[in-house]
Amino acid sequence: MATIDFCVWVVGGLSVSDRKRFREIIDSFPGSKVLVVGDLMVDQFIWGQVSRISPEAPVPVVKVTSESFLLGGSANVLNNVFSMGGGVAVTGVIGSDDMGRWLIARLRKMNVDTKGIVVEHDRPTTVKTRIVAHSQQVVRFDRENKQPVNSDSIDRIVEYVEAVRDDLGAVVISDYNKGIVSKRLLNGIKEVISGRNVVVCVDPKQGDFSLYQDLDMITPNHHEAGRAAGQEIVSEDDLVKSGETLLERFGFKAVLITRGEEGMSLFENNGGITHISAVAREVFDVTGAGDTVIGVLALCLAAGATFKEAAVLANHAAGIVVGKVGTSTVSREELMMVCNYSATDSHG
Ligand SMILES: Nc1ncnc2c1ncn2[C@@H]1O[C@H](COP(=O)(O)OP(=O)(O)OP(=O)(O)O)[C@@H](O)[C@H]1O
Ligand SMILES: [Mg+2]
Repeated sequence: MATIDFCVWVVGGLSVSDRKRFREIIDSFPGSKVLVVGDLMVDQFIWGQVSRISPEAPVPVVKVTSESFLLGGSANVLNNVFSMGGGVAVTGVIGSDDMGRWLIARLRKMNVDTKGIVVEHDRPTTVKTRIVAHSQQVVRFDRENKQPVNSDSIDRIVEYVEAVRDDLGAVVISDYNKGIVSKRLLNGIKEVISGRNVVVCVDPKQGDFSLYQDLDMITPNHHEAGRAAGQEIVSEDDLVKSGETLLERFGFKAVLITRGEEGMSLFENNGGITHISAVAREVFDVTGAGDTVIGVLALCLAAGATFKEAAVLANHAAGIVVGKVGTSTVSREELMMVCNYSATDSHG
């Protein structure tokens, strides 16, 4: 029989010992290292103004005023670990193009080792371009090739994991279904880290979770979890059944179902179920919250946190990030604030 912990772990509800323990975990971030394996992307923003409709077709004409680039996809997960002060390593595939070169230069500027990034010459770097005028998105276009990467690239990625495995506390598989994550890759990674104290967490995008069989932890949102478990999650009962089905069917040690404004629910293979309420006070931008969740979760696990402690901190970090405009990361200092609230604070 499962034990359900209805944990309303909002900041104000944390006890003195909870806060002390969270501080200890966050203090260990700089000595902890996370390897991010996944679909590297660039988020490009083109900003401008619209003052007329084109005479050529019924579309707005955007006068471009500026342009910016951000780390996207698995690179955004990396950015989240980085901004928490954690050690990072990265591997993935890019193309031999300007966007790929931008990505490498950006990571080098952050002092991130880019030796694990494989360049495929006949493949474009995945780029999502958003054209924004007067704070509104006018159009988005994606440049990508979702075909599986070369088997040679997979071998090189696995070799890289083998080369860095001694320093790692956790591996994130950030799957955006853009061609990197396959059974062959995951088996290769499992093999080279087997017997080591390295936790593997996956943020899934592919519908068939047997691909992720026996990884330690998975973080689907409630739609993904319902689909993979074969039932739509409408009620609390469906949620619990789905979580338990995923644990049993795919051999995970923990399943963390993220539920947007409802927070998240953690299912552990020891029978424990923990519901964690969302903490955001004002929500501005929910995109990328999933990347913050898996980045912080993995870093906490690398720092020695339990699944429950890691989930509570990841939920806090996600609550902070959805309250921000234009930034999809949280700093270590911001997360540390969670330890400074007194137990008598009542907000959340
Ligand atoms: N509206 C919200 N209010 C408060 N917290 C939120 C909100 N939306 C998301 N969060 C926080 O972010 C976490 C992850 O969000 P969500 O469940 O939407 O993940 P996701 O669908 O994987 O997101 P993504 O689009 O980044 O892949 C939630 O568990 C919660 O902690
Ligand atoms: Mg997601």
